[in-house]
Amino acid sequence: MENNKREEWGTKLGLVLALAGNAIGLGNFLRFPVQAAENGGGTFMLPYFISLILLGIPLMWVELTMGRFGGNRGHGSMPGMFYSMWNNRWSKYIGILGIFTPLIIVIYYTYVASWTLAFSFFSMSGKYFGAESRETMGAFLKGFQGVQSNNYFSSIMPAVIFYLITLVLNVYIISKGVSKGIERLANIAMPLLFIMATALAIRVLTFGTPDPANPENNIAAGLGFIWNPDFSQLTNSTVWLAASGQIFFTLSLGMGAIATYASYMKKDDDVATTGIATAGANEFAEVVLGGTIAIPAAVAFFGLVGAQEIAKGGAFDLGFQSLPVIFQKIPLGQFFGFIWFLLLFFAALTSSVALTQPAMAFLQEEFRIPKERAAIIVGLVIFICSLPVVLFLKHGFLDELDYWAGTFGPVLCAFLETIIFVWIFGMAKGWEEINRGATTRIPKVFFYIIKYITPAFLFTILATWFYQSAIDVLLMKNIDPSNKPYVWGARLMMLAIFIGLAYLVRKSWRMKEQGHKIRQDIQD
Ligand code: ALA
Repeated sequence: MENNKREEWGTKLGLVLALAGNAIGLGNFLRFPVQAAENGGGTFMLPYFISLILLGIPLMWVELTMGRFGGNRGHGSMPGMFYSMWNNRWSKYIGILGIFTPLIIVIYYTYVASWTLAFSFFSMSGKYFGAESRETMGAFLKGFQGVQSNNYFSSIMPAVIFYLITLVLNVYIISKGVSKGIERLANIAMPLLFIMATALAIRVLTFGTPDPANPENNIAAGLGFIWNPDFSQLTNSTVWLAASGQIFFTLSLGMGAIATYASYMKKDDDVATTGIATAGANEFAEVVLGGTIAIPAAVAFFGLVGAQEIAKGGAFDLGFQSLPVIFQKIPLGQFFGFIWFLLLFFAALTSSVALTQPAMAFLQEEFRIPKERAAIIVGLVIFICSLPVVLFLKHGFLDELDYWAGTFGPVLCAFLETIIFVWIFGMAKGWEEINRGATTRIPKVFFYIIKYITPAFLFTILATWFYQSAIDVLLMKNIDPSNKPYVWGARLMMLAIFIGLAYLVRKSWRMKEQGHKIRQDIQD
């Protein structure tokens, strides 16, 4: 917070593009198709849309409002935001979740982002062309990740180089600040992303029936799989957990990242419309574009059973193994492969800068560290903590971070923030805040949804998780014994980061209290 003046977004369009960039990420094009396919395709869509209306959109408004409120009081990260809404010594510690969660995510997210950059190069140069089956493409990916040494890659160095390029780019952008760094990136990357995704979606729709010998493997079957709902699955809690989890991840909710972006809004900027525009852009990218590309393409080339099997293998199998096999079967495959991975890279980069920004805002505002220096500090922390992710990938290090920060943490954070907003700050005051500056007031039904249904929904998710999986997860029941030491390592690293942040929060509040006391003494 140089010169005590907080940064602001340059234009309203820039704000919406930046927020869309924040939300639209790997989650839209890789995680969503996998979640949908794994949870029965159309069956998944109903809980998904219900979660969007009861959790996604309400929480988007709440986070934007909290962010704008905190930002107007000089706080761009959650400890300060919560403290300005709830003057209690514990509120700032609860707010640590809004720095911790995005920081942990960005530690592995940036690494995965770097794979997309690498694969866009490999597509353009045709490096993986020749690895024509899922098995050989799997070997190519594993070789690149350093999981095995093979005839494609003999060391992990290429992955490390692409990772360093991606991380340095991320750090450079955030060091330029909100309007000159993040907003500029969004102004360029988001339109390009939509153009590339639309081109690819249209290409996929023209696949038709690629293999006349297997007429049931076609695009219509792929789209039908994604879109035909199965009402009998509406009572299946696993599908509900997956659908609501996807809403969190894709909209970057419960991660602090949306609130931090909102903190750079002006006092009367329109939260209501901005929230709908952000969620709308994200859903278009996810459901319309993301839903048309990966799974329908996989169904057309590998069949329904094959696509489901690929989805079980996870997002990396779908994005980095199966689609490259398809690119090798179509005309101009190198070009379309390049477009696919570049689009993923833009999606990931605009999200990774957003996930880095809460820690940036915290250092800049609570410790008065200039943004260039803050960017270097955060970049170094990310780099050091990502080393075990890079080195112990095959031992589940990344999966463990993703489980706690990408799946569990956001729900917990959102639950606590809703309680603070609705029950402590007060829903009447909160509703006025949400609607302040709105060109169109939000329908009153959302007052009751935010007050009762959203917190009850969040509580149910947490309670179901506790009942169904807490013990097994905590005791690592489903973890391969040889990987347990690494998983412990991941947990210890997260604990150390959390404690470190708690220490910093305490220190910054102490400093402020002392500064306040000194000023008072001088006045007296
Ligand atoms: N919302 C971001 C994504 O979808 C984190 O990838």
